[in-house]
Amino acid sequence: MQWTSLALALGLAVQDAAAASSHGLMARQFAQAAMMRFQCSQLVFDRIDPLVQPGVTPATHMHQIVGGDSFNVSMTPVNYDPSTKSSCTTCDFSEDFSNYWTANLYFKAKNGTFKRVKQMVNLGLQGREGVTVYYIPPYDGKTKVTAFPKGFRMLVGDAGLRTKTGQQKQLCHRCFSNMKQDPFGGAPCTGADTFDLPKTQCGGGIRTTITFPTCWNGKDVDSPNHKDHVAYPSSGSFESTGPCPASHPVRLPQLMYEVMWDTTEFNDKSMWPSDGSQPFVYSMGDGTGYGQHGDYVFGWKDGVLQKALDARCSGNTCSGQLKTQTAAVSTKCATRQSVRENVGDQWITELPGGLPVTYK
Ligand SMILES: *[C@@H]1O[C@H](CO)[C@@H](O)[C@H](O)[C@H]1NC(C)=O
Ligand SMILES: *[C@@H]1O[C@H](CO)[C@@H](O)[C@H](O)[C@H]1NC(C)=O
Repeated sequence: MQWTSLALALGLAVQDAAAASSHGLMARQFAQAAMMRFQCSQLVFDRIDPLVQPGVTPATHMHQIVGGDSFNVSMTPVNYDPSTKSSCTTCDFSEDFSNYWTANLYFKAKNGTFKRVKQMVNLGLQGREGVTVYYIPPYDGKTKVTAFPKGFRMLVGDAGLRTKTGQQKQLCHRCFSNMKQDPFGGAPCTGADTFDLPKTQCGGGIRTTITFPTCWNGKDVDSPNHKDHVAYPSSGSFESTGPCPASHPVRLPQLMYEVMWDTTEFNDKSMWPSDGSQPFVYSMGDGTGYGQHGDYVFGWKDGVLQKALDARCSGNTCSGQLKTQTAAVSTKCATRQSVRENVGDQWITELPGGLPVTYK
């Protein structure tokens, strides 16, 4: 199935679900698309980065982190195994102790103060704000995928980027004109999606999608830049089962993050800069959006993700295959900030770490 028809299936699912409030119907639609799609609620906002700045407290910028509560400033592969170190996870699948994180977003008001932009829980899911996580097998229903091995980690994006040049393939923003709009709204990085942050007010919020590479060199769980051990398909797309390059022959599930920023609180032109420029800023002090990035540290219990992929699990439950937990349980999971500081849920005069806002 291609993204267009997938999007159509999801689109239908959303409209039907909205009309009939029927999650059962939605589950059936997801079964066709066979993609795991689940909620991972906020675990902590913290200025640490065990992947890019291991052991450094504080790291340069703030992240929003979801998943297993063993997340910490240093998580050395393979010894530090989130699936055995964690006591809980904020994800729907209770055997997934992986950590998923991105930069978080701020609104910069005309008077120069900042406030954190909250996230919406995606349609059909429950929890507190966080990330919608997808694991997508190839749509032909046949091509074998290999689950990530223990200790595996990777990074998409570049926190220092302020231009389109050098942007990794699949990291996009979508501006939703109103709240009624289908929050899936078709395939990521198509239509009017932009690599940078939208320049106009978005009545229904902003969606960020981060799609990870799906080809692996088959031996390294990491690489110095956290990117070289994986690659995007050499042609075509993952969904069309585009071939992996010879250097990276092992096909991985397509991991994707979807973050739904609820910018509606700031849709008041009197708060916006008078020159009409867009006021949203990532936690790196990135006023462009090109610096958004997604980090992944694998932490599923032994064998569980492979089982889920083989069974073509879909949506956020997989009866008889995967253990799940309710939002009431997952949202109790949390961890203390390593770097104790104000995240910016009220107006703050500078970004965490005092980072200046840059536009190039
Ligand atoms: C994180 O690491 C620090 C220092 O190594 C340790 O004191 C702390 O207990 C760890 N936190 C968690 C949640 O494991
Ligand atoms: C700055 O602007 C915001 C948004 O208009 C407002 O809520 C806040 O009170 C202002 N802060 C100061 C110090 O003026």
